[in-house]
This record gives sequence, structure tokens and C-alpha cells, in this order.
Amino acid sequence: MINIAIDGPAGAGKSSIAKAAAAQLGFIYVDTGALYRSAALYALSNGLDEQSLIDSLDKVDIKLEYQQGTQHVILNGEDVSQQIRTPEVSMNASRFSAIPEVREFLFDLQQRIARENNIIMDGRDIGTVVLPNADLKVFLTASAEERANRRFREMTDSTVTYEQVLEDIKQRDYNDMNRKTAPLKQAEDAVLLDTTEMTMEQVIDKLTSMIKEVMDK
Ligand code: DC
Repeated sequence: MINIAIDGPAGAGKSSIAKAAAAQLGFIYVDTGALYRSAALYALSNGLDEQSLIDSLDKVDIKLEYQQGTQHVILNGEDVSQQIRTPEVSMNASRFSAIPEVREFLFDLQQRIARENNIIMDGRDIGTVVLPNADLKVFLTASAEERANRRFREMTDSTVTYEQVLEDIKQRDYNDMNRKTAPLKQAEDAVLLDTTEMTMEQVIDKLTSMIKEVMDK
């Protein structure tokens, strides 16, 4: 199986780019952020803090399903793919994902999918922890301002300002890079792709051509 790992900070365009490349190549796109978001949604819905989430993990069942190539995340039997996309869940996913027990809980699921399928998997620790032997590792980034710009442009909620989006991005970057367990960082053998000055099409082309090179080897 061919495993491609894509890591990078919030708003770097990982999911749109990985999804498009996976569709072109017939790979499965695995969005691991959705797993952490689902764990956070569970904690929020049940009013849990860090310790009580750890104590409740045996009651949490998270599954990924694919319908016409699109990933759906199922939390205790309910499709929560939409519910996990709020700013509140984003911030809490960043918070709860710092818990080592939560990361361990989601680790096997990620590895199993990668063993059984040709995948492009995106997240924060895919190249460093989840798939250290990935066939290709890419670290996708862009300046915080450009990432906030992109996020802001695609937002439908007019009460949120650009400054708030930028602040959220910086806060999440800080959380994700400074946690003790599996922090966001570029793997030594990852290719760095800074997309600040690139269009989405250019990034997708670059990624698919790198993956094709790996497939031809
Ligand atoms: O990629 P995303 O924005 O959906 O991720 C939400 C949060 O989940 C992110 O701020 C940190 C966490 N996360 C993680 O710790 N490890 C991953 N592999 C993916 C996401």
C-alpha cells in the first residue's frame, strides 16, 4: 500500500489539497483532524474536562466511513461530519488533542486504515508519529496571515472578523506546536511546501506529481 503523510498548521489547505490529489489518483483521503474533533465534540456535549474525557474513553466509539469517496466520521453511531466544523470544536480539538491518552486511543484506527489502503493522510503528527515509514512526507505551510485570509474568505458567519480568525489560527499554532505529546513539527525527511505564494491548483499539481514519482519507483 502507498502511504502519503501530509502535516502542517491549521488553515494551510491540507484537506482541500489532499482531497483533490486523492481523487485524481484514486487514493483514500484520511482527515485525522476529524477524529480529534469528534473526541472534542464528545467532551463538549457531555460537559467533560480533560480527566473525565480520559475516564470516559471506553464509551467513545469513533469510526470513519467512505461514501462516494467522501469521509464521514461516526461518533457512537451518529454521523457528526458537519457538527465538528464549528470554531468552538476547532479550538477544543486542539485542547483535547494534547492529552496523550486521547492520541493513543486514536492511533490504532489511523494505522489500520493506512495498512489496508492507498491513502493520503493529513494531520499534525502523521509523518513524525503515525506513519514514520510513509512513502512520501510533505509539510504544508503558509504564513499565518495568508492562512487567516483563506479561512476568512470561505467563512459564511459575518459576525467573525479577520482579526479573530488570525488570533484563532495563532492560538492553535501555539497549542499544536508546544504540546508535549506528538507536537506539530516537520519530520526530518519531509518535503517542505510553503504555499503562501501559490494557487491551490499549483499546490495540487505539485503534490500529485510528487506522488506519481513515488508510485513509479
Ligand atoms: O486539522 P484540523 O484543523 O481539523 O485539526 C483539529 C485539531 O486537532 C488541531 O488543532 C490539532 C488536532 N490534531 C492533532 O493533534 N493531530 C492530528 N493528526 C490532527 C489534528
